[in-house]
Amino acid sequence: MIYRFSTLSSTNDEARRPLYRHGDIVLADFQSAGRGQRGHTWSSRRAENLTFSVVLTPSFLAATEQFLLSEVVALALVDTLALYGIEAQIKWTNDIYVGEKKITGVLIEQNLSSGVISRSIVGIGINVNQREFDKSLPNPVSIAQILGHDIDREELLDKFHVALMARYSLLESGDKESIQRDYHERIYRLGVESPFRLPRGEEIRGTIRGVRPSGELLVEHADMEVKEYLFRQIEFVI
Ligand code: BTN
Repeated sequence: MIYRFSTLSSTNDEARRPLYRHGDIVLADFQSAGRGQRGHTWSSRRAENLTFSVVLTPSFLAATEQFLLSEVVALALVDTLALYGIEAQIKWTNDIYVGEKKITGVLIEQNLSSGVISRSIVGIGINVNQREFDKSLPNPVSIAQILGHDIDREELLDKFHVALMARYSLLESGDKESIQRDYHERIYRLGVESPFRLPRGEEIRGTIRGVRPSGELLVEHADMEVKEYLFRQIEFVI
């Protein structure tokens, strides 16, 4: 079921309430305190984009396998954009990029209990019809900017919901290999030498060789050594 609000602080916070069940979507036309990854905010103009959270209860998934859920969500977004003729890639861990620009951000917050994921709040912000963005944002782009015309946000949400449940069913049926393979095929900057920043501010150059099933990014350094990084241990220089 889709629960629609005019204004919320953050759809992720609202979706955490126990009244929402598996598959429910909490959507707001405007978030007054939208949250992004790495402590950033997520700003989005009222009723121009999609800002929503999906509630999932993947209790069949071990906590150690939570990255698969990230992959499923990212792939469902890529699948959805493809329906509009937009070819997107996944910037590890789950930003969606078109070329060098970010079209969608994802913030997943999990509850773990007894070693499994009891509840997952999948927060998604898709730039849909907004054409002007705050100058402080590094590289945003919207569907309307790419296509040259506005699209129906409700239709987009429906398409995403269908795509998500299709990918989720694959995960539920245990087909982890196809999810990992499809994710790998769509990794942004895979095999391309690029700059990265390490936590102390040091900039390095490296080449992404893949992502481990458990989610670590594999980066080959100039000396050919491949090192693996967790989410907070490396970031792209855009
Ligand atoms: C990022 O790219 O940093 C993640 C952005 C996630 C934004 C969405 S909008 C809906 C949901 N509610 C939030 O407060 N954040 C997510």
